[in-house]
Amino acid sequence: MFIVLEGIDGTGKSTQSQLLAEWFRSQGREVVTSREPTDGPWGSKLRQSAASGRLSPEDELDYFLKDRSQHVDELIKPSLSAGKVVILDRYYFSTMAYQGSRGFDPQEIRSQNEAFAPVPDHLFLLDIDVDTALSRIGGRGDTANEFEQRDSLQKCRDIFLSLKDEPFAHLIDSHGSLEEVQEAIRSTLA
Ligand code: TYD
Repeated sequence: MFIVLEGIDGTGKSTQSQLLAEWFRSQGREVVTSREPTDGPWGSKLRQSAASGRLSPEDELDYFLKDRSQHVDELIKPSLSAGKVVILDRYYFSTMAYQGSRGFDPQEIRSQNEAFAPVPDHLFLLDIDVDTALSRIGGRGDTANEFEQRDSLQKCRDIFLSLKDEPFAHLIDSHGSLEEVQEAIRSTLA
């Protein structure tokens, strides 16, 4: 089973993916958790760029695709073939949302990815409003930056929400406690 957790920053994806992994393990299932960007060479360059200056939109998109391609070949496909449960914190839906918010066409990004990346069995869209996201991540800065950040997070949220009617997608209101959100994910899967 291939499960992906997505959402804007501050939705609690990484905690939720760990809690979900524990739940599967308690049922005797073998679980692999991972995240994107990965800790591989392309992913590391992307994480560094967050501190040392952002890449051009074209290079950024290219690096995310290379990072994912390696992730698919080296971890995702082999783990699924071995019958493991794979839980990802971010996947190509983040590229649709974030690089989409930088001006690329989300649908084109989707096709580009689905040419090599398997579609998940379950996509959980963890949703919170942008004000809650900003207060959770302690988003501060001068007024212009704050507006800029708010605007691009809103675009990302809208792109994630546009996926809610996909047959494999589940929209999860994530304003509640960690326990409530985890319960909503587990009951959906159960
Ligand atoms: P994030 O999960 O927030 O990393 P961290 O654990 O370091 O907080 O991901 C880092 C950023 O990368 C996040 O703001 C979203 C962005 N991102 C993209 O822009 N495109 C992508 O395809 C992915 C996977 C992530």
